[in-house]
Amino acid sequence: MTYDFDTIIDRRGSGCFKYDALNMMYGRDDLLSLWVADMDFAIAPEITQALQERLQHPVLGYNLRLDPFYDALGHWMQSRFGWEIQREWVISTPGIVPAINLAILSLTQEQDGIVIQTPVYHPFYEAVTANDRKLLTNPLLYDESGYHIDWIDLEAKLRQAKMFVLCSPHNPVGRVWTLEELTRMGTLCRQYGVIILSDDIHADLVYSGSRHIPISSLEDFADFTITCVSPSKSFNIAGLATSVAIIPNPDIRARVNGLNFKLHLYLGNSFGITAFTAAYTKSEAWLDALMIYLQANRDYLCDFIASRLPLLRINKPESTFLAWIDCSALGLTDTELDDLITNKARVALDTGPKFGVGGSGFMRLNFGCPRSILTEALERIEAAIK
Ligand SMILES: Cc1ncc(COP(=O)(O)O)c(C=O)c1O
Repeated sequence: MTYDFDTIIDRRGSGCFKYDALNMMYGRDDLLSLWVADMDFAIAPEITQALQERLQHPVLGYNLRLDPFYDALGHWMQSRFGWEIQREWVISTPGIVPAINLAILSLTQEQDGIVIQTPVYHPFYEAVTANDRKLLTNPLLYDESGYHIDWIDLEAKLRQAKMFVLCSPHNPVGRVWTLEELTRMGTLCRQYGVIILSDDIHADLVYSGSRHIPISSLEDFADFTITCVSPSKSFNIAGLATSVAIIPNPDIRARVNGLNFKLHLYLGNSFGITAFTAAYTKSEAWLDALMIYLQANRDYLCDFIASRLPLLRINKPESTFLAWIDCSALGLTDTELDDLITNKARVALDTGPKFGVGGSGFMRLNFGCPRSILTEALERIEAAIK
């Protein structure tokens, strides 16, 4: 079966954040929209079919996840990542950001230290600061070869921390952490009694040459690790608000799930459960085709920057459909850079400062779109810079 990733789908007016919030966020809507991290591709036909079949049943009441949901997840984790999980480890949440907040609220106290590696997806900051926990940043080191962990700083921060929120793979820098890095992070967390929350939302979106390893699958790290997983990014079903947290340690699980129950977040929605199951059981061929398309987009983007935008720099992302572009050599302030991209190039990107420490001078571009849109966006950026 072949899948079509080239057709341009008009999403305007569908109530999607990426297009329908352009005016609200950028003050104009005549922009090519390459910001919010969802893709402009139609979902896998196997998921559409499963949703249609679900609608054949005319009642949409409260849900109980049945065996196929857990079997689908267990099989996916085993076959893709070699990680054997048990059904009772799994708790369900409406999203990964809710799960991060649930974990912080149920496992830490006000003013407890929580480590994040910056620049990073901005809700990581808010999950710490809005819950009155102490933000401990471990800025990633950036050089010609890309992003690396500052181990001395990480150890110093973990010494003062109760929790480490790991982005694995990392948004926005696109790193897939290696076995050595994960082992070293986990060993430090064990040494200092720090709970790991590993956000693995981008785990399925890894390019050839890299391999995602769930940190919880290593050594004895499962005992103090929560792993958040969802097909929402990889299968483009974020609007169905369905994810899971895999928590092998029964005490940690009981505390997180206690709050999850109290807030009634565990019930889920009928379509999300159906799509989650269909993604992990029937849609692997679609994902494989998607990854070929995304990898070609990624390579095209990197070649374009190297050959036609010499003032910009990018390290090839090892994962995600997000490109983290260093624009600092343009010599603009962040406001000027934003103005150039939005009002001159007429492209909507995420500005670097949204990702906090280390974000200034950068732009994040979402290349989960038809190649023709990506090409047009890059040509507009090239013309604006010239
Ligand atoms: C690293 C990371 N975590 C979580 C999310 C959002 O997860 P959810 O919509 O399940 O809360 C995103 C979305 O871009 C993300 O990049």
